Amino acid sequence: MLGVIGGSGLYDIEGIEDRRAVQVQSPFGAPSDAITVGRLGGIDIAFLPRHGAGHRLSPTDINYRANIDALKRLGVTDILSMSACGSFREGLPPGTFVIVDQFIDRTFAREKSFFGKGLVAHVSVADPVCTRLGDLVEEAGDFAEVTLHRGGTYLAMEGPQFSTRAESHLYRSWGCDVIGMTNMPEAKLAREAEICYASVAMVTDFDCWHEQHGAVEVAAIVEVMHRNAQAARSLVKGIAPLLAANRPHVCPHGCDRALEHALITPPE
Ligand code: ADE
Repeated sequence: MLGVIGGSGLYDIEGIEDRRAVQVQSPFGAPSDAITVGRLGGIDIAFLPRHGAGHRLSPTDINYRANIDALKRLGVTDILSMSACGSFREGLPPGTFVIVDQFIDRTFAREKSFFGKGLVAHVSVADPVCTRLGDLVEEAGDFAEVTLHRGGTYLAMEGPQFSTRAESHLYRSWGCDVIGMTNMPEAKLAREAEICYASVAMVTDFDCWHEQHGAVEVAAIVEVMHRNAQAARSLVKGIAPLLAANRPHVCPHGCDRALEHALITPPE
């Protein structure tokens, strides 16, 4: 089952057949919203708006554990995460979609693991995204009219304020390509839940490092976001049939076996 987590501007996906909204209970609390389940392009799909309907949840307030747990309970095997981001590269202007392959996690006010408190596990996130799923996103990009860039390092910041200019320059000097507030700990939790995860970061602005562009403003972001949203929907529509035709039983990247050697607490 394909799970899609929609970010700012992406609160629904058209064309889902037999759709129904399900309220999923999780021991980790409430997910961001009801999850829309149905069929798209020959595959079961579950769609969750990350910020909730009406964009009520700030990045810090999102219950990432409940979101990933709820998708897992529904049977999701592959998550496509869509989110707005700022760009640190001249060559990644607003409107570009980046298939992220690395993260730097600078968030600090979020629950980051399903483990701890008596059951300790350390999963590897050396390669935090699923290459196979990334390949499908890239292929689907040929159908959606969108400029896709394969590969990029995403700086996850806590927010809710945007970065200072000094931070923006620092992150650029670290080799980061894009910046956002939501992909962490989402990607780490997907790995702990043994769900394949790919992230498409949709550029809305140049953050504040760029001399020819001013500071980040929400109004400008929202305008680009609305333009990006339609392309995001066609990307999802392109990926669904590709996944339906190409989902191996075992992930060649090992995402579905991440816990195999991760538990450190001995069994009682
Ligand atoms: N989301 C969209 N643009 C952003 C930026 N510049 N920084 C952090 N999150 C963002």
